[in-house]
Amino acid sequence: MKAPQAALVIVTLAAGLLLTARCDAGTEPAAPAAPSPAPAPSASAAPASLYQRLGGYDALASLTDDFIGRLFRDPSLSRFFAGYSDDARGRIRQLLLDQLCAASGGPCLYIGRDMKTAHRGLGIHEAEWAATVGHLIASLDKLKLAQPEKDEVLVIVARLKRDIVEKP
Ligand code: HEM
Repeated sequence: MKAPQAALVIVTLAAGLLLTARCDAGTEPAAPAAPSPAPAPSASAAPASLYQRLGGYDALASLTDDFIGRLFRDPSLSRFFAGYSDDARGRIRQLLLDQLCAASGGPCLYIGRDMKTAHRGLGIHEAEWAATVGHLIASLDKLKLAQPEKDEVLVIVARLKRDIVEKP
């Protein structure tokens, strides 16, 4: 290689190196951004839903399991649940859980029938209603909830009574 050619190669290589160095500099990781300050507690924060105050999905699942177990074991209610298969029990348990979860503000979708349709013709008496609510109270007591949360669940259930009870 002649001298002028060699000089050209050297100049080209040097320019290439310079360009690469500039590009690398441009892709250097940016200095870490200062962490954003934690949000200050706001007086306008939404209050916890009943679902959250009851303890969330797992707590509601325990409540439902305990409640439904009591219903199935109660001899005074056996005319309703005798002969239920395990699958039928599982189905009603899941529907009850979804219903409770949705009604308390949780992220569930109740896809069962409305209460009037599901209970029409069962001829449920006041005494059977009272026994059922008694079981629910016993299950709520087991969760050791504060009285306001218990009361809120009982209010939700009480609203369903006129669609469920057919006989005095
Ligand atoms: C405490 C309030 C009550 C709630 C929240 C409730 C909720 C439900 C739900 C979600 C279903 C399933 C609906 C469906 O299949 O699409 C159901 C069905 C049923 N409930 Fe209730 N229920 C209540 C009270 C009662 C009472 C007092 C009795 C009888 C003592 C009863 C007996 C039944 C029976 C036998 C079925 C099954 C009906 C069928 O398979 O056709 N329920 N209930």
